[in-house]
Amino acid sequence: MTDLSITVDGIKFPNPFVLASGPPGTNGKVIQRSFELGWGGIVCKTLSLENEKVTNVVPRYGKLTADADSKQVIGFQNIELISDRPFDVWLEELRQCKEAYPDHALIASIMEEFSKDRWVEITERVQETGVDAFELNLSCPHGLPERKMGAAMGQDPEIVEEVTSWVKSVSKVPVWAKMTPNITDITVPSKAAVRGGADGISAINTILGIIGINLDTLRPMPTVEGYSEPGGYSGRAVRPLALRQVMEIARACPGVSISGMGGVMDAEDAIMFLAVGASTVQVCTGAMLQGYEMISKLEDGLAAFMGEKGFNSVTELVGASLPYFTTHADLVERQRAAKRAKAGQANRDEMWKGDIAKETDSLVTD
Ligand SMILES: Cc1cc2nc3c(=O)[nH]c(=O)nc-3n(C[C@H](O)[C@H](O)[C@H](O)COP(=O)(O)O)c2cc1C
Repeated sequence: MTDLSITVDGIKFPNPFVLASGPPGTNGKVIQRSFELGWGGIVCKTLSLENEKVTNVVPRYGKLTADADSKQVIGFQNIELISDRPFDVWLEELRQCKEAYPDHALIASIMEEFSKDRWVEITERVQETGVDAFELNLSCPHGLPERKMGAAMGQDPEIVEEVTSWVKSVSKVPVWAKMTPNITDITVPSKAAVRGGADGISAINTILGIIGINLDTLRPMPTVEGYSEPGGYSGRAVRPLALRQVMEIARACPGVSISGMGGVMDAEDAIMFLAVGASTVQVCTGAMLQGYEMISKLEDGLAAFMGEKGFNSVTELVGASLPYFTTHADLVERQRAAKRAKAGQANRDEMWKGDIAKETDSLVTD
């Protein structure tokens, strides 16, 4: 059996596959089920102190298929808010999960308003449950920014630094800051989080989008009482954008752990995130579409890849592709050098076309 474990920020993950904050970690029961099936860790659905302020709507999901007749979902969109379940119920469930599965990583996703007291309170109360780490949701792109939370915080580097430092001032466990991709340069808030003391960066949250327009009614989707709002886009289609942003964070924040996500549907997708510098890989939409059981496909695929390519540990694979990203000018120079080398070889080949005995003679030392 290939050892898929990896230790990140002092936390031992049995494998690098972590369910991302969202419906897969919506309550203690499903969190325990995911551990039972073998997920290395889970980030619970984002919690806040006052669930009464969170009101969800229905419908709140939309799908983009490969074409009109296809069932193949390539993109997914949601206008779901953070958890609307009571904080005290969550505390009890997190405690039970940790007791039942002490060896699986349980990460609490938290979000609050821009107030030191509130961030300190939520951190202190949640850490009493025994969670292994925190993930700060500074990145939800819809609904919450209207309350100046989520991406509204994550798009302001000063706020990112300040909020991270508030949490770090009381947290006894590692803290990951989750970044929004809805920004020109994701390395700016990532570096701010590191200045605030973050142990790790999670990326990416969903990309703000419009999944479609109903052409019969001209109403945007998902349609709630005839209206909609831009929502968070995820699933396979976002993978290239997520890989690029994770790679940029890895280069900008050396030595800081990264939990990468965005469009992971199978082991190949996950391996790409490891290769660009993530040490754990999160999955949300993939599990919603394929079920928690997809973990066995991820584990088998990673083990087979490591065996085939000769990797002895997941750590060896982390960042393996990073040295091969460069600038366009360098690509041009490398191509010129390759052409020159090829031309030199062609000349040498040409030389050997003549009288081989004579040419051999000319190269023999006296
Ligand atoms: C329905 C849904 C709900 C989500 N809720 C949360 C949330 O509460 N907190 C959070 O940090 N991210 C949330 N996310 C974002 C995911 O954790 C993840 O960052 C994003 O979907 C990209 O990964 P994926 O392509 O594997 O889904 C949600 C995503 C979806 C699809």
